[in-house]
Order: sequence, then structure tokens, then C-alpha cells
Amino acid sequence: MQNYLNDNRGKIIEELFDLLRIPSISADSARKQDVSRCAETIKGLLIKAGLEQVEVLQTGGHPVVYGQKIIDPELPTVLVYGHYDVQPPDPLDLWTTPPFEPEIRDGKIYARGASDDKGQLFIHVKAIEQMVQTGSLPCNVKLIAEGEEEVGSTHLGNFLKEHREKIAADIVLVSDTGMISLDEPSIMTGLRGLSYIEMEVAGANRDLHSGLYGGAVANPAQVLSTLIASLINDAGRITIPGFYDDVEELSSAERHQLAQAPFDLDRYKQTLDIAEVTGEAGYSVMERVGIRPSLDVNGIWSGYTGEGAKTVLPAKAFAKISMRLVPNQSSPQISQLFIDHIKGITPKTVKVTVTPHHGGEPWCIQDDLPAYRAACRAVREVFGKEPVPVRGGGSIPVVALFEAELGLKTILLGFGLDSDAIHSPNEHFGLINLFKGIETVPLFYKYFAESPDLRTLCGEKV
Ligand code: BES
Ligand code: MN
Ligand code: MN
Repeated sequence: MQNYLNDNRGKIIEELFDLLRIPSISADSARKQDVSRCAETIKGLLIKAGLEQVEVLQTGGHPVVYGQKIIDPELPTVLVYGHYDVQPPDPLDLWTTPPFEPEIRDGKIYARGASDDKGQLFIHVKAIEQMVQTGSLPCNVKLIAEGEEEVGSTHLGNFLKEHREKIAADIVLVSDTGMISLDEPSIMTGLRGLSYIEMEVAGANRDLHSGLYGGAVANPAQVLSTLIASLINDAGRITIPGFYDDVEELSSAERHQLAQAPFDLDRYKQTLDIAEVTGEAGYSVMERVGIRPSLDVNGIWSGYTGEGAKTVLPAKAFAKISMRLVPNQSSPQISQLFIDHIKGITPKTVKVTVTPHHGGEPWCIQDDLPAYRAACRAVREVFGKEPVPVRGGGSIPVVALFEAELGLKTILLGFGLDSDAIHSPNEHFGLINLFKGIETVPLFYKYFAESPDLRTLCGEKV
């Protein structure tokens, strides 16, 4: 392994750079060609890695790239999932070097997608290449690379149904998350779900003079602010009736276990430059983002925002609101509760329109899977320390879909760091993370394939 890495370091970095140069921004329709070009590039990488039946499969949206290497149909199969689409790079002026011109500084690769998720997907491509080349692949492997994760994986549910046979496997392996730090390795055992809502509050039929009408006609910007402010109470609880009804309550033993993950509140506040944290009373910061739901305004706009002062009473106000969900909340149900509640509390002075966007279901590892233990062992061997379990606050909607549609369990073997600035300017990924990742993945395969009983290893086989 070490030899392979030492001999190929330069080439590996160059190939990843080629991938990072493609602006595969799934949210931007003007980039559709680039997204397709990125899929073709991945196809080339998979062929080079020694995968077979490599193809670019069309979906209702951006394509999925597929490849497989079946060494023996009797052996277990690992299904690797990753995404090659990226978030929009703006605001561009905050990048030290342009987002699609990768550069190494202080041992880190700076580029949009370096960590989320091209760099981490690439880890698997190189790990597979190395195992195929050295004849050490101990089981079958299939890989799918998606181009729509950052826009909600809307077509992936259908894709899984349509290609059920093709992607049949025993376990899913995903590197699209992070660990606490290189010295404190961790493995994510949960992801939050998502409900995303857009709201429009409309007042009078046109913008008004705020002197002639102010005080008598409702101001949509103010009504919207009041509505939003009422959604979280002084104890940090979300006030939507029924919101917490299905929330999984963890036992004190489970909470104690999760509290083993190191966390330094002062450093947390310091790195974010905030004087105090916020959130639901009775829960730690890690719990607030890991095992408790949350509600956030992602965008809010109305009225005059240009230079100087314009006296205007705006006709409309808008907001985009996300709710992060935890097991056993259901995304469509929570979206509906939100809509009903907002309609119920909106005063007669305005009209409100509430539209749900994409969502995703929460997920957590429910059993003590031997495949999880195989992942822990691989991480321990490379990072020199037993990884701790952490519930992640982000969302990867497909992970719950794998379980619901195909009955497949997932292992989140993430190599990113919270400090990688994913979705932000100057996203980066450490070369150490990259190369340790390429070292860790083959060990997972080894220990996974060695596990004594495959059925208990990964839950029910499809
Ligand atoms: N890879 C992230 C999710 C993630 C990152 C989970 C780090 C845990 C730790 C993924 O690409 C992402 O950004 N997901 C979106 C959801 C999607 C529906 C747009 C998110 O969490 O906002
Ligand atoms: Mn991602
Ligand atoms: Mn992302």
C-alpha cells in the first residue's frame, strides 16, 4: 500500500486536480454541460481503476456513473456511493484562489468540491484501483457516483428502484462526511433529515409610501419577522404543534456514549468568533446538532436594500426556511405541520403562500453491525486511535433511501474535517486526509470480507 502511494502521489494529485477543474454545479442550469463532462471524466477514472461495465446512466436530471468488479458472485458486495456535483462557489471574491483552479497550500488542496465530495469519492476510485492492480480486492465492488446530491437527490429514489438488480449489494460505503480531527478519528452513526420550505407574505397590491400608509397597512416584512420569531420559544424549542411528537429520545446510556466524543466549547466559540452559543435547553452543543431537530432561516428578503434610504412599505416579503430532522420524524409530515401552523397563525392583514422544496429523511445506525466494526478497525489501524461514534448534523438523503428502497445498511467512512469549509469560500481537503483515506478503504474491505457471518454483518441481504 505504502509503495503504491509513494510511487503514485504526483499522478494521484494531478488526476484529482483534473476532476476539481470541472465546475459541476448541479444547481446551475448553465453548467449542465460541465456536469455531464464531469460524469464522463469519472467514467474514464473508473475504467482506468479496473472497474467493468462502466457506464453513464441517464436519470430525469443529472446522470449517475456506474461501474463494478465482480470477482466471485458468491462473495459479498460493497456498493460505494459518492457525488461528483458541487455547491455553487459564490461569493467568489472571498476565495484566495479561484474555486475551479485547484492549488495546494499548507498541505491542503483548495478547490470547490475538494472535500465535498470529489476528493472523498476519488479516495474510493484510487483504493479500488490499487486493490485491482495488486489483486487484493477481497470481495465484489460496485460504485455509483451521483450528480444531484447538492440539489436534493430528487431522481435518485427512482434510479434505485429502476436499477435495483444492478446495484444489489450487501452494504453501502459512503465517504461524504467528516471526522473530528486526524488525532480524534470518529465515524458518523447518524444524519439529520431535512424539510425545506419557501414562504411568501403579501400585503397591499403594490409597494406603498411608508409615510402615507405606515401604521395602518400591514408590513409584510414585519409580519414575516414576527411569524418566524414565534417559531422558536425562549427555551429554544420549536413551537409548531406536534413537531416533537415522533422525535427519538435517546437513553442516558446512549447520550453518555455520544458524550465521549471530545468537544471544546471555548475553541468552538473562538473559531466561529461568537460570544455565546444558542439552542434547546437541556442539551449540549453536540446534541443540539446531532440528536435534536433545528429550524433555521436560510434566506430572507424584502423591501429596499440598495444604497441610501428609500421610504417604502414593501408589498411582499420572502424567506427560505430549513428544518433539520432526527429519527423518527418524517420529512413530508413535518413540512405539512409547518404549513398548517403558519397558515393558522398568519394574521388576516396579509396573505401567505408556503411551498415545500426537496427534503430527506433522517437516518441512524440501529444495530451493532460487524461492518461498522470493520470500519472502526480500519480507521484505528491507519489513524492510530479507536474512532468514536458521532451523530452528524448534516443530511445525505440517499442514505435513508438505500435502507427504505433496498433494505441496505450504510457505513459512513468520512475523511473530511469540519474545518474543510465545505459549501463556503476556500473549501479545502488535506493531502493527509486524502492519502490516509486511500490507505483506510482497502482495510475496510479486508476486515469486511473476513467477517464470519455476512447476514448479521450487514443486516438483511437484498
Ligand atoms: N456531504 C454533505 C453532508 C454532510 C457533510 C453530512 C458533513 C455530514 C457531515 C452533503 O453534500 C450536503 O451538503 N448535504 C446537504 C443536503 C442536501 C439535500 C442539499 C445538507 O446537509 O445541507
Ligand atoms: Mn456531500
Ligand atoms: Mn454538500
